[in-house]
Amino acid sequence: MKRNIISVLDMKDDMHQLVDLAIKLKAERGNHGDPLKGKSLAMIFEKPSTRTRISFDVAISELGGHPLYIHSGDSQMGHGETVEDTARVMSRFVHGIMYRAYDYKIMDRLGDAATVPVISGLDNLEHPCQALADMMTIKEIKGGFKGRKFVYLGDGNNVCNSLLYACAIMGIDMVACCPAVRMPNAEIMLGAARIAEENGSRIEASHKPYEACKDADVLYTDTWISMGDDTPVETATRIFMPYQINKDLLAVAKPDCIVMHCLPAHRNMEITDEVMDGPNSVVFDQAENRLHAQKAVLYTLLK
Ligand code: CP
Ligand code: NVA
Repeated sequence: MKRNIISVLDMKDDMHQLVDLAIKLKAERGNHGDPLKGKSLAMIFEKPSTRTRISFDVAISELGGHPLYIHSGDSQMGHGETVEDTARVMSRFVHGIMYRAYDYKIMDRLGDAATVPVISGLDNLEHPCQALADMMTIKEIKGGFKGRKFVYLGDGNNVCNSLLYACAIMGIDMVACCPAVRMPNAEIMLGAARIAEENGSRIEASHKPYEACKDADVLYTDTWISMGDDTPVETATRIFMPYQINKDLLAVAKPDCIVMHCLPAHRNMEITDEVMDGPNSVVFDQAENRLHAQKAVLYTLLK
């Protein structure tokens, strides 16, 4: 049966295996023996991308398959053809569809109508492949998940939502430290808290960065203004500046705390230059791991 990865929940039962496979594939350094020879992946983008686009393209290519980049506005989907018809037609041509969408409801419709696997490359609710790469990065650097304290700072956005599920599944203790007006999705917070309980970890909310970051193993942030969000920069700066990752905040975490950011970063907004370029930052290893994590996803879904 075909399988979609639209939410981190779609990886609930095998996220540990996917992380381990990603680490194994990374060690193979691109020499995988073409397990996806003859398979094509359509990549539909409604929004800009650097990491997601390049890493999926290289991932399918290094596994022996073939990527097709489609900007939605240049396809008939952007000119009135329904998402269902697009999904049905594409399913006749390709073996998998990666989709970066504005609206998770359209993502779900594409996922339901396609007869080939649909993988989210981000929508307004989640960014599951980012969260998978992030868990891989934590395992590589921290050696495991249990008992680790992860603090997300800033906007309770799509990346934060996916990290809530991912930390809960892996058994990490996570604090979503966000302003009251920009907390993560309430349903996802509750769902993640339930999963965390099953795995012996905790999901918490906080509005106090210095308290939340005490003894943290991981500090994570993302842009204060996501694609499609029309919050003015002045408003975002006022709301989020207390949540900036800077050297004073990092000082309350554990000395070997790692600092993560899904990128693109807005330097000296959500993270200072000093921290992003400092010894605790792993942001570029994290970016590289998108490639390896997505190979694990493509291999598992398309082989
Ligand atoms: N982190 C991430 O998804 O980056 P892009 O927007 O460049 O794909
Ligand atoms: N939260 C950001 C992530 C970008 C990779 C956005 O949706 O724009």
